[in-house]
Amino acid sequence: MRHLASTKTETGREIFDLVRADLAKVEDELSRQSVSTVRPITEIGQYLQLSGGKRLRPALVLVSAKFCDYEGSAAIRLGAVMELIHTATLIHDDVIDEAETRRGRPSTNSRWGNHTSVLAGDWLYMQAFNTALAERNFRILDVLIGLTQVMVEGELLQLNQLRRADLTEDDYLDLAYRKTACLFSACLRVGALLGKKSEEFELKLASYGANLGLAFQVIDDLLDFTSSEQTLGKPIGSDLREGKITLPLINLLSRCRAEEAGKIASILSEGGFYTVQFDEILDLMEQYGTLETARTKAQHFARLAGRSLEGLPKSPYKDGLLSLAEFIVEREY
Ligand code: IPE
Ligand code: IPE
Ligand code: MG
Ligand code: MG
Repeated sequence: MRHLASTKTETGREIFDLVRADLAKVEDELSRQSVSTVRPITEIGQYLQLSGGKRLRPALVLVSAKFCDYEGSAAIRLGAVMELIHTATLIHDDVIDEAETRRGRPSTNSRWGNHTSVLAGDWLYMQAFNTALAERNFRILDVLIGLTQVMVEGELLQLNQLRRADLTEDDYLDLAYRKTACLFSACLRVGALLGKKSEEFELKLASYGANLGLAFQVIDDLLDFTSSEQTLGKPIGSDLREGKITLPLINLLSRCRAEEAGKIASILSEGGFYTVQFDEILDLMEQYGTLETARTKAQHFARLAGRSLEGLPKSPYKDGLLSLAEFIVEREY
């Protein structure tokens, strides 16, 4: 399995080390939860589980629960629930994006087709809710249902915003919150709800999660320009090819000359790098410093994440969350 540890820095691994034994139990739970009497569902569930993934969301649930002094086994089941929700959104996202590769392997849609993938995603959502329901905790269900609606709204909004060169940074951040940050925030809140912490405690953790998620998505969008398919496990340049206007591009459009903006418009209208090459856009981004500006924005959210924890008690789990916020900006995949 690929972990969030990088050769660059070891500190980001801290939160995984803090909950290593429980993360192994989450894996067992995921294996149990991905089984249906209908074969393609089990095949897809296992295929995705074995293809890895960083397991960042379950780690966040587990660390948050420990930080909130919760000791029971529900954190393991709910960690699996959050990973199942994440997996279902990835399956649907790849259908919508017509993505061919995920986690270094053919995507579910390219192996099983769109119809089977959509249904398998639906099944995984329901499996996640089934498991969550068994906890008989309405506040947690409330968070999970609200979250899923916000995420689906995010995918719908994204469809409307495809190829729209007039997208603003606020539009982009709203989308990043819905697609990614909201789930991160919910992972932290679930931990606080398990530990029955005060609303103030819960909101601080929720704010940490939301800001961490924004930093994470900004970096994901940056890596789509600067990384490689081998490192990421998904092809680079995909966002622009798919017509997704992300932060480095928004920055570029606000700074470049009209004829340079015309090049971006050509890629968007042609749906790929036909008359204009990906490298030309990368060169422009270097020239106008827009990748750096996006990284600075990610650092800003990471800092806000850290600040959200101010006033909460000292704990190794708090330290783990603080170092994760620093690390997330340095991550390479
Ligand atoms: C991918 O999330 C989707 C985004 C929010 C950008 P991850 O990068 O956490 O995916 P896995 O689970 O590690 O594959
Ligand atoms: C990530 O969206 C958030 C989801 C809800 C899947 P992206 O479209 O940026 O994710 P990748 O780049 O395909 O992993
Ligand atoms: Mg996608
Ligand atoms: Mg992406």
